[in-house]
Amino acid sequence: MRRSVLSLLAIALASPAFAQAYPSKPITLIVPFAAGGPTDLMARIVGERMGKELGQQFIIDNVTGAAGTIAMGKLARSAPDGYTIGIGHLGTNVVNGLIYKKLNYDLLDDLVPIARLPSNPLLVVTSNQVPAKDLKELVAYLKANADKISGGTAGMGSGSHIGVMAFHAATGTNYQLVPYRGTGPAVQDLIANQIQIMIDQSSNSLPHVRAGKLKVYAVTAKERPAAAPDVPTTAEAGYPGIEVAIWHGLWAPKGTPPEIIAKLNAAAVAALKDPEIRRKLEDLGQDIPTPEQMQPAAFDAYQRGEFDKWRPIIEKANVKVE
Ligand code: MLT
Repeated sequence: MRRSVLSLLAIALASPAFAQAYPSKPITLIVPFAAGGPTDLMARIVGERMGKELGQQFIIDNVTGAAGTIAMGKLARSAPDGYTIGIGHLGTNVVNGLIYKKLNYDLLDDLVPIARLPSNPLLVVTSNQVPAKDLKELVAYLKANADKISGGTAGMGSGSHIGVMAFHAATGTNYQLVPYRGTGPAVQDLIANQIQIMIDQSSNSLPHVRAGKLKVYAVTAKERPAAAPDVPTTAEAGYPGIEVAIWHGLWAPKGTPPEIIAKLNAAAVAALKDPEIRRKLEDLGQDIPTPEQMQPAAFDAYQRGEFDKWRPIIEKANVKVE
């Protein structure tokens, strides 16, 4: 019975009339982290503009918990009709596939790429209560006060956790980690000194650094970003080997008709060509991919390459969630 219903659904979705009429109602965009954080912000900026392009609203659905694994499971089980899509990033759509041993979906087989979205580096930031003046002093302070320091992440496998893994390995620090449902709430606790340090996406922390609410020590990039020219790279600050950029993307459940993927991709490309959107994203330290890099096939190849790049790193770090 279920099989024949699914076959009928597949036949209906594959019909040209269905793809032409698409979208005829609002599109739900699943966001794997809490509202107010960097993934949510990207979803709102890009989703709103894509909605204008497609003539339908994008409804944001924050499905939080377990570093995005709950959200991606929900996306994988959604109807493949183009009315439920998801945003994710290097953590949710690559690293989680390598560290969570019991995911009930496969990130490459059960989801199809729609478009690659911008990428931003991480900032090493602390609360204003931390007395260090530069990264070397901060590392010494973290080592001397290891039992008193807590760092915030959005859970094991999240972008902020990937940053901490790289930071701990390069600096020999090992402070305690507090998991949050997203770095939006975590950064508020950092400002309040409930936690002392984060390795956080620039789009999340930079506005607070500019407002004088957080201290910044370094950026995990090869070169200083145009949005933060005064912030040294981690290598310039004395710790090479912490180069991490958190790229984002949009995915749909497997079986979503290619014509619908193409319409969504075209809307994402148009959104990222909009000078106002580009200005907003670049001001937060985001690098914007080219329209060619955003194509589904190019993004699929990029994501698979990222699995190959991160697999040995995760195996060496021996990070697993059973
Ligand atoms: C968020 O939106 O909260 C972040 O992308 C979390 C993270 O991966 O660090």
